[in-house]
Amino acid sequence: MSETTFKNDDLAAFWMPFTPNRAFKQNPRLFHRAEKFHFYTTDNRRVLDGFSGLWCVNLGHGHPKVVEAIRDQASTMDYCPAFGFGHPGSYKLANMVADQFPGDLNHVFFTNSGSEAVDTALKMAIAYHRMRGEGTRMRLIGRVQGYHGVGFGGISVGGMVNNRKFFGSLLPGVDHLSLPYNPETHGYSRGLSDADVAHYRKELETIITLHDASTIAAVIVEPFAGSAGVFVPPKGYMQMLREVTAKHGILLITDEVITGFGRLGAPNAATWFGIEPDLVTMAKAINNAAVPMGAVAAQKKIYDTFIEGTKAGVEFFHGYTYSAHPLAVAAGIAAQEVFREEGVYQHVADIAPYFEDAVHSLKGEPHVTDIRNLGLAGGLTIAVRDGMPGARAAEIVQKAYEFGAVIRNNGDTLALAPILTMGRGEIDEIIDITRKAIRAVA
Ligand SMILES: Cc1ncc(COP(=O)(O)O)c(C=O)c1O
Repeated sequence: MSETTFKNDDLAAFWMPFTPNRAFKQNPRLFHRAEKFHFYTTDNRRVLDGFSGLWCVNLGHGHPKVVEAIRDQASTMDYCPAFGFGHPGSYKLANMVADQFPGDLNHVFFTNSGSEAVDTALKMAIAYHRMRGEGTRMRLIGRVQGYHGVGFGGISVGGMVNNRKFFGSLLPGVDHLSLPYNPETHGYSRGLSDADVAHYRKELETIITLHDASTIAAVIVEPFAGSAGVFVPPKGYMQMLREVTAKHGILLITDEVITGFGRLGAPNAATWFGIEPDLVTMAKAINNAAVPMGAVAAQKKIYDTFIEGTKAGVEFFHGYTYSAHPLAVAAGIAAQEVFREEGVYQHVADIAPYFEDAVHSLKGEPHVTDIRNLGLAGGLTIAVRDGMPGARAAEIVQKAYEFGAVIRNNGDTLALAPILTMGRGEIDEIIDITRKAIRAVA
């Protein structure tokens, strides 16, 4: 690596996120180039990206249109403050995003990440109720195994134990629904499961009765639990959440950081499920992950409450130095055009059944105890090796990397997330390498 001498060795200085630093730095996996479906390691080995980066490079790496847009923007205007000033692209992108959502989800607030989008949406929900004179609605309901990023809001409503237990008492007034997935009764479900939604309706109603609706601001869920390992809800579950929350004046926030922009074969999960949440968070594929960006889509009634409820001055005391950053916006406009011009959502809808069969062909491989899928997302559960949670799945990921593909594990689950423009050949290759890796690990 670098010939300069630093006080640390070259790899030590970077404290890597969500990475076992010690193990990684003994055996680093370093990429220096990416093109379309592949990464290239620093020793120039080609590795197929079976995880769309981190669920985000939905159009493939270095899409020429996105690259060109960033280059042009960087040379025209590198930065423009979003507080009290604007640039035309940000309004255009907000319109392009809003147009893809059903109903009155008409207003878009830009952030720099999914975590920030989640914290923004939670703050919008609480402040919205307060502005309407219902300031007692402060509680937030999340879900066990939910992942909503790493801000204090996100980990409070999130439900992944390791992301919470180190960080104190978190936000007060948060409760959690259970994960609507039971491998014992509905394991190996293809797509949405047939589990009984009435059970989960009763649970939500019980939590609402316990706290009283007048204290609850919002329910937040992922349309499917992505980071936990692709746990897919039963048929009718999302519609049930919409119906029950609406009945009690509780906002429904769907976290579409993964499902936004094509993963299910539709512009977003709201469209795919046919529901109209009050707030939707997104990030990642909004601009093909080429520049950090997140966003929240808000219903008209929420935006109007802030605008009309404020006599003068700032209506929402919130924002980021890099909200609507010109480079992120330029990449976003280009990416949104590509989604449309290349018919990406339809392609995903067409190829998803093939992917479903391919993922479920891993049933019966050693240590595989469950498989799930939705759109171009696949999840497997791998049996825990005695006393070493996560070890076997992590070794499978390492083997897959050695055999030529990036896949990902979270604890004892594996997840596969092909780039949305991949064809059958690439899907076959991801599955073949995953199978080989599973077989190679004891
Ligand atoms: C559903 C969901 N919400 C929020 C986030 C956090 O996004 P970021 O890592 O951009 O902060 C993620 C990241 O994977 C996610 O999957």
